[in-house]
Amino acid sequence: MDANPPFFDLVNGVRAMRRLKPDPVPLELIWKVLNAGVQAPSGQNTQPWKFVLVADPVKKNWFAEHYAAAIESRFGLAADQRQRKGLDLGAQGRALAYQMDHMREFPYLLLVCGERDWPFKVPEEDRVGLAPPNYGAVYPCVQNILLACRALGLGAALTTMHQVFEDELHAYFEIPETYGVVVTIPIGWPLGNFGSVTRVPAEEQTYFDQWGEKTGRP
Ligand SMILES: Cc1cc2nc3c(=O)[nH]c(=O)nc-3n(C[C@H](O)[C@H](O)[C@H](O)COP(=O)(O)O)c2cc1C
Repeated sequence: MDANPPFFDLVNGVRAMRRLKPDPVPLELIWKVLNAGVQAPSGQNTQPWKFVLVADPVKKNWFAEHYAAAIESRFGLAADQRQRKGLDLGAQGRALAYQMDHMREFPYLLLVCGERDWPFKVPEEDRVGLAPPNYGAVYPCVQNILLACRALGLGAALTTMHQVFEDELHAYFEIPETYGVVVTIPIGWPLGNFGSVTRVPAEEQTYFDQWGEKTGRP
């Protein structure tokens, strides 16, 4: 696998890799990945992330079952493969179905947790219930993780469907209330090629000096 590509190729090649091999991945590679993650910035350098690295087959199986049920309930993609026979799912649907069917076989499932913290804009008197996890700090960490996986030739995909069964997830993995699970990332050696991402170019997403202004570039 083409590991360690130059930076701009790396960024361009961080695809959501949903088809992974069951082959083992050495733990030292995961430490490299997670140590790239923790280089991310955070407000006042609070580093409000924690990781739960799941490799236990029983626990991966628990997660896989809940994940498949969540996909079925939200996207109508049947967890039972027989019910999907003959359906045209499209490229992303097929990749999602593969991920759902094989989740339990992937070597690692990484839960990235963020400490809960009220955003500044929520006034004290409106702070009811649990604060959201510190998304602003955790997502740069997540992106570093995805980049590091790609640099090492590992496949990974950012997933958020665990939100559907977050309470059970917290209870099962004994995650304290002070943290929320921000993303879950299956990690393993990729089955396919990395390819390039498809995105609208920045030139089309940018205005000059005020919203909507496409002329008068500096
Ligand atoms: C906030 C966020 C939530 C996402 N949730 C999921 C998810 O639950 N399951 C999944 O397979 N991919 C998820 N993705 C990955 C996107 O679907 C993927 O990056 C996008 O479709 C572009 O595909 P590409 O990265 O392969 O180019 C998520 C990405 C982001 C940033």
